[in-house]
Amino acid sequence: MEKLTIIGAGGHAQQIASAAELIACWGVIEFVDDAFTKERKIHNWSVVSTISDYIDSAEDGSKFIVGIGDNTTRVELQLKLTGRNLTPVTVIHPSAVVNPYSTIGQGSFISTQAVISMNAAIGDVCIVNSGAVVGHDSTLMDGVHISTNVALGGGVTVGQNSLLGLSVAVGPGLSIGANVIAGIGAAVVRDVPDGATVKGVPARE
Ligand SMILES: CC(C)(COP(=O)(O)OP(=O)(O)OC[C@H]1O[C@@H](n2cnc3c(N)ncnc32)[C@H](O)[C@@H]1OP(=O)(O)O)[C@@H](O)C(=O)NCCC(=O)NCCS
Repeated sequence: MEKLTIIGAGGHAQQIASAAELIACWGVIEFVDDAFTKERKIHNWSVVSTISDYIDSAEDGSKFIVGIGDNTTRVELQLKLTGRNLTPVTVIHPSAVVNPYSTIGQGSFISTQAVISMNAAIGDVCIVNSGAVVGHDSTLMDGVHISTNVALGGGVTVGQNSLLGLSVAVGPGLSIGANVIAGIGAAVVRDVPDGATVKGVPARE
């Protein structure tokens, strides 16, 4: 069985490791992290090197997933590693419900009890966190993070690298731009332009 290397070793990376362990298709699951000084264990998994040592030494085709919450950092690292001929993998927690007519891009993580509905399209390097629901025909562009308990209506689009905070709700058919931050608990009832930070009920810039 193959080895899965998780980039980062914090809480989010560990959440991915535990999901990957449950899937039981990996012979070894390990972390690489820039805080590395010497090999140490976190639960069943070892932190084995720095990220830059991994980039320098990994064999072509080695499988990885970036376990870092910050959207920009996560996307940049995946681009760097794929440029080195390493292969990003998608990890889906077994308790997630993923409609067979939806698609999920490379290097994305679908966490515990998330729901990906009919015809939804999840881009590369996305996070759909615990209990989040992506409505039918919705699209997440690359690098999006849908936090815990977010609810997206049907036909919603979320632009590149946007973060929807804990328990955000987005009405059906709405379009959220790139690099948007929606604050905890926001109720999005209108389209949101690129780069905006919105919060509140209803959500305002
Ligand atoms: C909206 C957000 C980005 C604002 O962050 P910030 O710019 O650092 O804002 P501050 O904490 O300085 O607060 C500024 C004001 O906005 C208010 N505020 C902050 N977050 C808010 C929210 N989600 N809804 C409503 N008001 C909010 C604060 O109470 C404060 O009001 P005041 O000036 O009257 O005291 C941030 O609070 C947030 O919700 N981030 C998302 C976090 C998250 O869910 N991450 C995912 C984890 S998995």
